Amino acid sequence: MEKAEFVVVANRLPVDHITGADGEQTWGRSPGGLVTALDPVMRNADGAWVGWVGQPDLDIEPFEFDGTHLVPVRLSAEDVELYYEGFSNDTIWPLYHDVIAAPRYSRVWWEAYQRVNRRFADAAAAVSAENAIVWVQDYQLQLVPQMLRQSRPDLTIGYFHHIPFPAYGLFSQLPWRRQVLQGLLGADVIGFQRVADAGNFARAVRRQLRYETKASGITVPNDDGTTRRALARAFPISIDASSYMQLARSEQVQARAVQIRESLGNPAYILLGVDRLDYTKGIQHRMKAYGELLDDGRIQVEDVTFVQVASPSRERVAAYIQLRDEIELAVGRINGDHDTMHHTAIRYLHQAYPREEMVALYLAADVMLVTALRDGMNLVAKEYVASRVDNRGVLVLSEFAGASDELGSAIRINPHDIGGLKDAIMRAIEMPAAEQGRRMRSLRRRVLEHTVEDWSRDFLQALDAFHGREETQ
Ligand code: G6P
Repeated sequence: MEKAEFVVVANRLPVDHITGADGEQTWGRSPGGLVTALDPVMRNADGAWVGWVGQPDLDIEPFEFDGTHLVPVRLSAEDVELYYEGFSNDTIWPLYHDVIAAPRYSRVWWEAYQRVNRRFADAAAAVSAENAIVWVQDYQLQLVPQMLRQSRPDLTIGYFHHIPFPAYGLFSQLPWRRQVLQGLLGADVIGFQRVADAGNFARAVRRQLRYETKASGITVPNDDGTTRRALARAFPISIDASSYMQLARSEQVQARAVQIRESLGNPAYILLGVDRLDYTKGIQHRMKAYGELLDDGRIQVEDVTFVQVASPSRERVAAYIQLRDEIELAVGRINGDHDTMHHTAIRYLHQAYPREEMVALYLAADVMLVTALRDGMNLVAKEYVASRVDNRGVLVLSEFAGASDELGSAIRINPHDIGGLKDAIMRAIEMPAAEQGRRMRSLRRRVLEHTVEDWSRDFLQALDAFHGREETQ
């Protein structure tokens, strides 16, 4: 194949391996927003995407899919265990989400993380044309920018960090903190979700590496004694709002929303939670608040049903196995105490659904509960808002989700304050239509005027403008 002028490097490829009814193996496009956002850029630039297919030990040659050149990176079962489940999701993930679960620091995992990052960097270098733009995604690949800069100094390198970057006092726990900072600083532009994340990163760079930072600029020394500038600032990610609006306006989806309400016994109010089953999401906190409202008699099970979609995630990591047990115990207790023959308190679904079904659920839900204890952005909050083309519904939003910086017209809560969360749920349930409309219109304005396309354009423009500004000492 021709080398590519634009290359995305991410842990996952933008496709899912699908086994058809006849056993035939095909590829389907992943539902994620990143895929949609980059689609036009990939097509125009004849782009390539380097990533893992999501299953161990699969040897797959590069192939074309939907106008994009896909370059699979092979991970052995051991790589998956040490690099993906271990270092990425049992060290970095909990550490960067404020140590909600205890991070484990294993030298064997760190070795695997370096080895696999090198493999991604080599694959990206091999497919990149001279002076190409390479955009590295997320915490699984923090060493790739520096590895690429060393092997291919001609490249323009961007990195976007989709999850939080923690405060210095937490980040400094990481035994390999300097290597990770150096890894990221291989990029010309390092993007974060929130201004606070970029600030935390700059502080860690100052404290650990003693590099100078000024506004969003960082002065990075080169090996030859010269310096270059890197940019570290916030680029809040978003969704492809119009595709949610289009679905929300479709008759089938609207009919499905009515059907969902009916199948729940037509309660007066439906509360909704939609998350990957992850300890960062505060699922237990919202269940506790809801359960107590039933216990207190402030709401009745006939009137208020809570639907929780918890999609399966990282199911072999111990903290996730334990979380699932705890959540399912809580659901069983609350339902056992409050269900009637005709009404259930919590309709719990440990499943993933296509986007059409999600939009129908958003339309069926009077109140959306986003109670994350820490979250890079939380796109579910934005999806709910984009789907409410009727300007109804109330978003209850944790101040610890990145989305809270933009969505000021939500009812903002501290999920640790169960009393406050209960009051917020009551306020949401009782909110008059006029106030719902006022708030929802203002939320929608923000989500519609800053879509994921704006996000990728802003990032790539910054990358373009910033590249090549050498400084000599
Ligand atoms: C978060 C991360 C992504 C990740 C996704 C799903 O949104 O920022 O990088 O792909 O979770 O997690 P998984 O481990 O299944 O890729």
